[in-house]
Amino acid sequence: MEVDFNCERRLESYIKKIFENDSSGHDYFHSVRVYKMAMKIAEEEICDKNIVMMAALLHDVDDKKLFQTEHNANARKVLMDGGISKTDIERVVAVIESVSYKGNDSVVPQIIEGKIVQDADRLDAIGAVGIARAFAYGGSHGRKLYDPDIFPILNMDEEKYYRHAGTTINHFYEKLLMIKELLNTDTAKRIAKKRQLFMEQFLEEFYAEWNGEC
Ligand code: ADP
Ligand code: NI
Repeated sequence: MEVDFNCERRLESYIKKIFENDSSGHDYFHSVRVYKMAMKIAEEEICDKNIVMMAALLHDVDDKKLFQTEHNANARKVLMDGGISKTDIERVVAVIESVSYKGNDSVVPQIIEGKIVQDADRLDAIGAVGIARAFAYGGSHGRKLYDPDIFPILNMDEEKYYRHAGTTINHFYEKLLMIKELLNTDTAKRIAKKRQLFMEQFLEEFYAEWNGEC
């Protein structure tokens, strides 16, 4: 199934409105980047591109950190208003529910469209953009950049992952550097290599400057 461009335009203007005031790294441009990356990955996979498009654009519209909706009400409503079939709405919602990162409680999506959107979302958390988003998120949650006395906590479950108050540098060890092992598709794994290297170089430089070595 190819992309329905009328639907794409409608969903894009919907997310532009809904994320208008976000500064925590879950903004409109994040969703657009995830969408573009998802379509790039989709080119290499046998999948329903229309489902990938809808799920990628809407993957954060019911994020618990930002909205108080239940059962993906925002996504369901905008899809229903656009005349999308019930079957497709259920497929999109199933994808959205499976993509989010929840520490040890994360799941591997069952269908390929979910694997694609999850990879695209995770790629946006690494590399230069990922670094910028991590510090934006940390700042908006009152977290320190770094504190050598606070150590990373590994293997957190969903509740702990959301609750614990570490530093943004620790977030690299708690999530960002591990993302490359969690990707589903070969395309995403290839793209992640360069981004991984960039994050490792960033950390090296960060510690060197912190310690007055350069
Ligand atoms: P997802 O997009 O899979 O729902 P999150 O909502 O956990 O993932 O993360 C969204 C963005 O915020 C990502 O770029 C992520 O790295 C960043 N982020 C999440 N938790 C933290 C944290 N504790 N410190 C710094 N950045 C974070
Ligand atoms: Ni996201």
